[in-house]
Amino acid sequence: MSFAEHLLRWYDEHARTLPWRGIHNAYHTWVSETMLQQTRVETVLSYYQRFIDRFPTVEALAAAPEDEVLKLWEGLGYYRRARNLHRGARQVAEELGGVIPSDVKELLKISGIGEYTAGAIASIAYDRCVPAVDGNVIRVVSRVRGIRENVGIPSVKRQITQAAAELVPQERPGDFNQAMMDLGATICVPGTPSCERCPVAEMCDACREGDAEDIPELPRKNPPKVINYDLCLIYNGDRVLMRQRTETMLQGLWIYPMIEEHHTAKQLPALVKRRIGLPVADIQPAGEAKHVFTHQVWQMKIYTMSTTAEAPDGWRFVTLEEMQALTIPTAVKKAKEIVLGQ
Ligand code: ADE
Repeated sequence: MSFAEHLLRWYDEHARTLPWRGIHNAYHTWVSETMLQQTRVETVLSYYQRFIDRFPTVEALAAAPEDEVLKLWEGLGYYRRARNLHRGARQVAEELGGVIPSDVKELLKISGIGEYTAGAIASIAYDRCVPAVDGNVIRVVSRVRGIRENVGIPSVKRQITQAAAELVPQERPGDFNQAMMDLGATICVPGTPSCERCPVAEMCDACREGDAEDIPELPRKNPPKVINYDLCLIYNGDRVLMRQRTETMLQGLWIYPMIEEHHTAKQLPALVKRRIGLPVADIQPAGEAKHVFTHQVWQMKIYTMSTTAEAPDGWRFVTLEEMQALTIPTAVKKAKEIVLGQ
């Protein structure tokens, strides 16, 4: 039996039952695979269903305002995925008559669709014999084929993609790719894999050599940069000051005023006046919070304060009810809970 036959036989017995499986719907595959990047299956499950219920077709997504798309993504993180998916849906609706292409080269022209997602859509939704190489598949393939060089090197990544392509069968390519992901998620895991339970152990170079734990060699990551912030909850009556971010990071999401570095309560009024343009009083410490992003760690001290002035340009005083409708990043969840009295 071939590698694919062994793996598919295992998959038929052990496949996780997931709502985006067993369907041939390129839009559903696009949404699920976009959500699944950098995010665990368990987390995606509820988001996926709500998203599909609200936007059942690519046209429905294309017709929605971006704020509504972001709101449904709230808490999933990596919000650029949502904005690109939305832009891509508009592209498909406007330029392609609502039809998602089946060809990898055509798929790659769509916003938000990279090599991985293109391979996933083409194979899962259209039965095209192409690989879908995510982090799990990189690990499985580099172990199976004994690729021991650093996978951050482009030529090594190409070698892995090529090796993955050679493993994909003509029949059931989508199931095969998802079986590779499942194998990587449950058996061929990072660190010490469970080779004794692996359906393709006999065909695996790393298993034979006994060095699976050392493969793949991953690129060295820079440690995330720690940034200290004083987060200011500025009240005008029962409304609180917010703005919608325009920066690349967390673009489109709503956030409270944040001043870099930690200061004393006494120092804050002058700083808030200078940076935000508002006179404030009644500074009270309200708690601390930390949020770890991929490249940054936010270390936040939260203060409440009050003003009677109007919102400066680019800012808005929002009622608690209005705040509930805005998309607010998980990073400032604690501040939001303080505002809501939770
Ligand atoms: N991770 C990324 N895509 C996946 C899929 N289709 N099934 C399970 N895990 C995944």
